[in-house]
Amino acid sequence: MEFRTKLTLFSLLLLSANASDNGLALTPQMGWNTWNHFGCGISEDTILSAANAIKQHELDKLGYNYVLMDDCWHAPARDPSTNAPVADPEKFPNGVKDLSDKIHAMGLKFGIYSSAGTKTCAGRFGSLGFEEIDAKTYAEWGVDYLKYDNCNNEGRAGTPLISYERYNNMSMALNATGRPILYSMCNWGEDGPWNFAPNIANSWRISGDIYDNFARYDDRCPCTSMLDCKLAGFHCAAARIIDFAAPVGQKAGTGHWNDLDMLEIGNGGMTHDEYVAHFTMWAILRSPLILGNDVTNMSNDTLSIITNQALIAVNQDPGTGPANRIWKKEVFTGDGDISLWQGSLQNNVFVVAVMNTSPHNQTVDILMEDAFLDQGAAYQAQPYEFFDLWQKDSNGNWGKSIGTVQGKFSVTVNTHGVKVWRAIPKPSNSRRAGEL
Ligand SMILES: *[C@@H]1O[C@H](CO)[C@@H](O)[C@H](O)[C@H]1NC(C)=O
Ligand SMILES: *[C@@H]1O[C@H](CO)[C@@H](O)[C@H](O)[C@H]1NC(C)=O
Ligand SMILES: *[C@@H]1O[C@H](CO)[C@@H](O)[C@H](O)[C@H]1NC(C)=O
Ligand SMILES: *[C@@H]1O[C@H](CO)[C@@H](O)[C@H](O)[C@H]1NC(C)=O
Ligand SMILES: *[C@@H]1O[C@H](CO)[C@@H](O)[C@H](O)[C@H]1NC(C)=O
Repeated sequence: MEFRTKLTLFSLLLLSANASDNGLALTPQMGWNTWNHFGCGISEDTILSAANAIKQHELDKLGYNYVLMDDCWHAPARDPSTNAPVADPEKFPNGVKDLSDKIHAMGLKFGIYSSAGTKTCAGRFGSLGFEEIDAKTYAEWGVDYLKYDNCNNEGRAGTPLISYERYNNMSMALNATGRPILYSMCNWGEDGPWNFAPNIANSWRISGDIYDNFARYDDRCPCTSMLDCKLAGFHCAAARIIDFAAPVGQKAGTGHWNDLDMLEIGNGGMTHDEYVAHFTMWAILRSPLILGNDVTNMSNDTLSIITNQALIAVNQDPGTGPANRIWKKEVFTGDGDISLWQGSLQNNVFVVAVMNTSPHNQTVDILMEDAFLDQGAAYQAQPYEFFDLWQKDSNGNWGKSIGTVQGKFSVTVNTHGVKVWRAIPKPSNSRRAGEL
């Protein structure tokens, strides 16, 4: 007995002693990043205005608490005497430390960006070979988060070990600062980061960059799967990233998440239903939820999508992992598909979703045998109360009860849309819901 106890304690210690076990991202990180809307057009004012808007709309109370400065904050060169990074003195006249102090004073956290290459993606100085001085300077500036890109990596990729060593170097450098800094790897899914990153990073990108489109195929995002992809590219539509995410959910968990890339909701390229599907799938796949729109100038529709507390609660459910895709069926050859997704939440609660990427509205039968495939016969047979997470209840909260479901149900999902429910087992048989 005593021996067994010691062994268990020892294994627990081994499991927790990772190179970067910084105690952060116990649930997927949430926040806002400059890139998707502003690109290189950023300044102290852009970032402070966004931080003010986050407070004004109380987005931080929902969990959106990281304010992230992406590429192009840099001066033309490092400090020539110390090699320390320097910020653009015109865009950031008061320096980065002052900016992070102001953001901290608002009760928010501050993040920065660099690339594990000689230059960043926009051609500013990168961190390859300068990991220690960069991590140290970020810590001095009060940085809480690093997004670490993959441009200009001088060919130092191609095997998991080569990529691991390049990204682990910064992981060690961040750790050595003594300041907990969330480490968000952005290596576009190259070399299978889900296999080597969980011990060194809090999240890793699984694909090339998102673009503000739901399902369009684009040759600049050429791979059909990320498992053996040789060119991650960019211009990856939301539905393609969801497809890439489906098999790698098994690798995510507390402190280490698959990053499906920053959100596009509010940037104008998708319809309402498409943005709803985008937000839903990012939430249930437990991706970081990093807003990428202009939060100082949001429509009510955008605001209502990004503040769906029922879906944020699924995304932030403690101790549980991403939803799994149970099946995917092509509906018109080459035209898209219908898919069924299910995930387990704490306290014997489940999330069930049906997504339609085809250009037509679709009505399908969902068998509880499929939806509760992993839970076994008793779970497949029992009744559930279903709560539609895109309808509000009588108190105005997202998640309206739509009745009891048992055996199977029929659902209509609009083109490029999604239906998502929280499913709670019911103790006794009661009426069956018809069409949801
Ligand atoms: C550094 O790593 C060790 C070992 O995983 C961990 O216990 C510690 O909390 C980390 N420190 C920081 C600041 O990330
Ligand atoms: C990280 O890279 C720097 C510079 O290339 C090197 O001096 C250092 O030894 C590396 N550290 C680790 C932990 O690999
Ligand atoms: C605010 O958003 C509207 C609608 O998208 C746009 O027309 C307007 O130019 C934006 N205003 C600013 C200041 O960005
Ligand atoms: C949002 O809705 C409120 C009323 O609920 C209205 O006062 C406001 O003008 C609307 N804002 C926009 C940007 O449409
Ligand atoms: C799909 O259904 C919606 C109503 O839910 C309707 O407004 C829309 O016209 C339908 N679209 C197509 C392509 O049939």
